[in-house]
Order: sequence, then C-alpha cells, then structure tokens
Amino acid sequence: MSAAKLSYRLCEYRLGLAVARRIVNTVRRLGGWRSFCLPLEALTLDAHVAAGLMRLWQRMHWSSGDGMMPADQLLAIYRLAATWPGRGDIVELGSWVGLTTSYLATACAVRGEGHVWAVDTFVGTKEGGEAYPSIERFGGSTLDAFRQQLTQAGVSRQVSTMVGYTTEMAGKYEGNPIRVLFIDADHSYDGVRSDFETWWPHVAPGGLIIFHDYLMDGVAGFVDDVIRHDERVAWAPGQVVSNVVAVTKCVAKKTRAKIVPLASGNSLHLVTTSRTKLPEEKVECK
Ligand SMILES: C[S@@+](CC[C@H](N)C(=O)[O-])C[C@H]1O[C@@H](n2cnc3c(N)ncnc32)[C@H](O)[C@@H]1O
Repeated sequence: MSAAKLSYRLCEYRLGLAVARRIVNTVRRLGGWRSFCLPLEALTLDAHVAAGLMRLWQRMHWSSGDGMMPADQLLAIYRLAATWPGRGDIVELGSWVGLTTSYLATACAVRGEGHVWAVDTFVGTKEGGEAYPSIERFGGSTLDAFRQQLTQAGVSRQVSTMVGYTTEMAGKYEGNPIRVLFIDADHSYDGVRSDFETWWPHVAPGGLIIFHDYLMDGVAGFVDDVIRHDERVAWAPGQVVSNVVAVTKCVAKKTRAKIVPLASGNSLHLVTTSRTKLPEEKVECK
C-alpha cells in the first residue's frame, strides 16, 4: 500500500472513531440508551396523558432536568399520578429541585383537577442529620432552583410549597384528601416510617402511596417488614419499576376492597424488583 493510501486509511479510521465517540457521548449525555425507549413507552399512554408529557418534554428534556430520578422511574410515577383513580391532591415528600414535582404537577394538569403540595426543608436534608454534598452547588438552598424549574415546566400554579420537616408539615397540611402520596425524603427506616405514619391520616381511602428508593436499605426494610404485612394497605397493580413501590390505602378496614387494574388491556402490572420478589397476584384488604 502506498504511503498516501495508508495515511488516507488512517484518517478515515480516526474520523470514523471520532464520529462513533461523539455519538456515544451524546447518547450518554442524553441519559443513556434508556432515553430512546421512553418516547416509545409514552405511546402506551392515553392521548391526553401523553400530550401532557410531550408538553413537559418540550419545556424540559426528560433527562436534562436537574433532579435525582432516572427517566424510566419518572415516567412510571407520572403514569401512576396521571391515571390513579379518585379525586384529591398529590403530596410530595422530598422535592429537591422540583424535577419529580414538575411531573406530578403535569399529571394534575392533564386530569384538570388536584394540586401538588411539595414538602421539603430545601436545605438538602439527608438521613442521619447530614446534608447532600451537592447542596453546595445551590448555595445551601434548593428553593430558588426548585422555583425556577417549576416556572420552566409551566406548572407553578399547580404547586404549593411547604418549607420544613415532613413530619412537622403533616400537622399543618390544609389541602384536600391525598389521592397520591409520594415519599422520597428521609430514606432511613425511621424516616420512612415517620413519613408514612404522620401523613397516613390525610390519604384518601383508595389513595396511592408511592415509596421511592426501594433499593435503599431503610426503605426496603420498612416496606418489607411493615408495609407488606399491614392490613391497612394493599399492593397496587400499577406499573412499578425497579426502585419504586406503590400500595393503596384500603377503603375501610372491614370492607373487602378489591383493587382493579388501571386500564384493561393495558400492560400495567406489578413487576418484581431486583431486590425482592413481591406478590404479583392481586391482594385484597382484610
Ligand atoms: C432524594 S431528594 C428528593 C428528590 C426528588 N424527589 C427528585 O426525584 O428529584 C430528598 C429530598 O428530601 C429532603 N428531605 C430529606 N429529609 C427530609 C425531612 N425530614 N424533611 C423535609 N425534607 C427532607 C431533602 O432536603 C431533599 O431535597
């Protein structure tokens, strides 16, 4: 091979490598291969629920919003919040910079009813009294970033903010009975237990309680040891991805409350998480 041909081949090879690298990096930056599946998953939503999601994605890309939750989990929570039956408000315990808040508020917007109550100290409180190290990036408080993100998402009107400790704010709650309670604040066993117990009285019968970070020991410990055997709740058959567990509040302790699938023919089902095998059959409250 001539020297000219060889150098041409080398250039070609290096150019190909550079292009491949650029593509992989872009995919990574956009949140991984999983991101490309999301718009396809969104096609399984009812038209108005999907439209709300598309509007939100136009305003903030699903993987570029500053928050703590991977895109597939965000989509699962949005789907549950938008489709769970009943009337009432959504309470989010642990909002950080408002990524999940924006999805929950969009769910209220597409339903045309309900309001989100975002409860957080906004100083990055972490279990054990520490703070998330990344709080420094926000100058010690995430409140401004939280408000900015809600404005960008166009959902400020759907959200009320409660600044303080989640357990203390439970006593000050003045919203409607809770249709969806999303727990994502203190992930220690005692933290999750206190959040569940203090907010429980506000949850509407049939309301949904979502636990995030089930892969963390504190959350898994409480869910597996207590919630699984608690006769006040039943497992939701809704779409639950790894790291997200949902249960419903029984209609009345002595009533046999049957949980029905959210939509017949839809692919909604309870999947096993990578942590523990959860019951896949429908559970009735005793
Ligand atoms: C994991 S982040 C929430 C992430 C957010 N849901 C998301 O996915 O984008 C936990 C948040 O809970 C808040 N937090 C933790 N413990 C709390 C407590 N006991 N009371 C109030 N807020 C708390 C922290 O300040 C932090 O903003």
